[in-house]
Formats: sequence, C-alpha cells, structure tokens
Amino acid sequence: MSVRAGGERLKVLTINGSPRKDGNTATILKQLERIAKKNGAKVEHVDLVDLDFSDCMECMGCQKGTKCITDDDMQGIYGKMQEADLMMIGSPIFMDAETGLTKSFVDRTFALLAPGKGSDPFDTRLDKGKKALIVFTCGMSEGGVVYHGLTVRYFDTLVKLLGYDDFRSFIIPVPPARKGLLKTPAAKAMIEEASRFLVES
Ligand SMILES: Cc1cc2nc3c(=O)[nH]c(=O)nc-3n(C[C@H](O)[C@H](O)[C@H](O)COP(=O)(O)O)c2cc1C
Repeated sequence: MSVRAGGERLKVLTINGSPRKDGNTATILKQLERIAKKNGAKVEHVDLVDLDFSDCMECMGCQKGTKCITDDDMQGIYGKMQEADLMMIGSPIFMDAETGLTKSFVDRTFALLAPGKGSDPFDTRLDKGKKALIVFTCGMSEGGVVYHGLTVRYFDTLVKLLGYDDFRSFIIPVPPARKGLLKTPAAKAMIEEASRFLVES
C-alpha cells in the first residue's frame, strides 16, 4: 500500500455510523486506521453523529442536475468520498439493521449516481478504481450468520450501484463485557483479512 502511482499516499476515508464515538465499532475502525497509517496511508475519520445532515428529501435535484442540492454537511462528504481511494464504513446493528445514521448517509449517496445510459438505470459519478470495506458490530453471537443479508445489500449498493471496484465486509459480534473485543476470534480474523486488503490497496 502507501505509495501509489505518481508517488501519492493512499487516501482512506472512515465513516463511523455509530452514535458512540468510542464504542465497539469505533474500536475496530480505529484499529484498522492504525494499520493503514502504519502502511503509509493518509486517513480521515468522520463520525456521522457530528455531522448536520438530513435524510434524502427525494427532491431529485441530483438527477435533474449534476449534484445534491441539499445544503448541509453531506456536501463535504461527497468531496471526501471522491478523493478517497478506500472508504471504510462501520455501523453497529440496531434492531436487526444498520443504524439510522448509517442508512441516512447511504441514502444520500444516491446523489453520486447519474441517470444511466442504455439498459443501466444509473452511472456512478465516482471515479473508478475505489475500494470499500464495511464492518458491522453486533451483540448477537450468531450475528455473522443472522446479518449476512446486510453485507449482500451493501455489496449491491457499493459495488453494483456506486461502482466500487473491490469490497470486503465483516460482521463482528462483541463480547458481553466489551473488553477484549479486538482479541475475539472473529475480530482477529477480520483484522488479518482487512489488513491484507489495506496493504494490497
Ligand atoms: C438500540 C440498540 C439496538 C440493538 N439491536 C441489536 C440487534 O438487533 N442485534 C444485535 O445483534 N445487536 C444489537 N444491539 C447491540 C449493538 O449492535 C452492539 O452493542 C454494537 O457493538 C454497538 O456498537 P457501538 O458501541 O459502536 O455503538 C443493539 C444495541 C442498541 C443500543
């Protein structure tokens, strides 16, 4: 990783969709950020809870024009997404799904789709060659199986719609006392695979 063609450092954008800035999801994201930084990447961390942004208002301004016309903090995020070579999204599972914060963010990425030509309903407005990594944390020990459908949904959104080139997804059940999260077998396996993904990027 680290140095790209032209001598530029890999740019990583982290989106934390937990309302807790130091919770389980952040613990995992920050560990991945440490690995990315150690390998020379430039990392930017965004906690969605700090942003002032609305749900998609379905005004279709982004389809009639070329960008989202809602004037809020998502405007800065669109630019960061375009700049980043790799985007990491983290979300806890709340009531069997991603958090509302995460879903609101993902809904707003609709503005990164232009009306498609021919048989494709949409074309991405993002540059090609980007990678995405998504981590869900959950309380249920069988979460990896129970919430698998969520990872399929994110593959569809990020790869099939938004045009990310490569994608990894992980579901990490948290231990009851929260302590030792990074030492659980699921977290250790995830960190190993995610590290390879980051280093190869
Ligand atoms: C409102 C709420 C709903 C939750 N719903 C689920 C759930 O449906 N399934 C599950 O496995 N864990 C559920 N959990 C547990 C969280 O997913 C888990 O503790 C997660 O790691 C919290 O992440 P955070 O510390 O980054 O916020 C829920 C937690 C909260 C607060």
